[in-house]
Amino acid sequence: MNQPRIPRKRTYLLCPPEYFSVEYAINPWMDTDTPVDRELAVKQWHGLREALLGLGHTVHELQPEPGLPDMVYAANGAFVVDGTVYGARFRHPQRTAEAAAHRAFYDEQGWPFVAPAEINEGEGDFAYLPAAHGGLILAGYGFRTEPAAHAEAQEALGRPVVSLRLVDPRFYHLDTALAPLDDGNIAYFPAAFSVAAQRVLAQLFPDAVLADEVDAFAFGLNLVSDGRHVVLNSEASGMAAKVAAAGYLPVPVELAELKKGGGSVKCCVAELRA
Ligand code: ARG
Repeated sequence: MNQPRIPRKRTYLLCPPEYFSVEYAINPWMDTDTPVDRELAVKQWHGLREALLGLGHTVHELQPEPGLPDMVYAANGAFVVDGTVYGARFRHPQRTAEAAAHRAFYDEQGWPFVAPAEINEGEGDFAYLPAAHGGLILAGYGFRTEPAAHAEAQEALGRPVVSLRLVDPRFYHLDTALAPLDDGNIAYFPAAFSVAAQRVLAQLFPDAVLADEVDAFAFGLNLVSDGRHVVLNSEASGMAAKVAAAGYLPVPVELAELKKGGGSVKCCVAELRA
């Protein structure tokens, strides 16, 4: 028998894909020869926004900027824990300017901001589990975020950071291979991690929902959960069945157009944790 899955109201930051396109390829999903249907992307993004609002969550919006086609992936702009913002510093020059836009948002809201010295791509490579071991940060490295940023995040946020090595370039950010389902539990695709990191995850999260390659390939791990409702890409039907079997309620949203940039639900959503 699964324990009851209790939702908690969240505050999110999203950025509309007004200027979304695939003009460069910085991950294996991006192909500059495949045309992007921006109108469809905008429509699908609105579906995601409506789904989050429909669940009772608060959604803030970042003003999109021309020349920053990846800005729709708002998760990469910062990592917020206990009201403190650890800023992002992008690996690729094409995305560098996004960090300042995120910073301006947090400054305006009056959130304490820690400027990073190390390369890190915000919630793309950081996840927070408030009820795991008293409050644990999981952090990915291997493709984007530097391991040195994990130590920097621990100093900035005062929570233990567990470093996990990613080994499959298709799953280049932590959030393509692992997601919190609630305050203490996760779902993940083991093969995206080094054998040692798989052992660490198995030790820390014995009740995790394990995904397979089909789930991961459908961006089924790139999900946003409020503790009960699991918002995920509608193509990830296998993953939806797995989280349902674990007692959560899948909320599928169509977001296929955003996959052309190498992202899905979670990539589009940053969580503001007061
Ligand atoms: N095209 C973007 C990049 O490669 C996609 C980012 C996806 N975001 C995420 N949180 N995984 O940087």
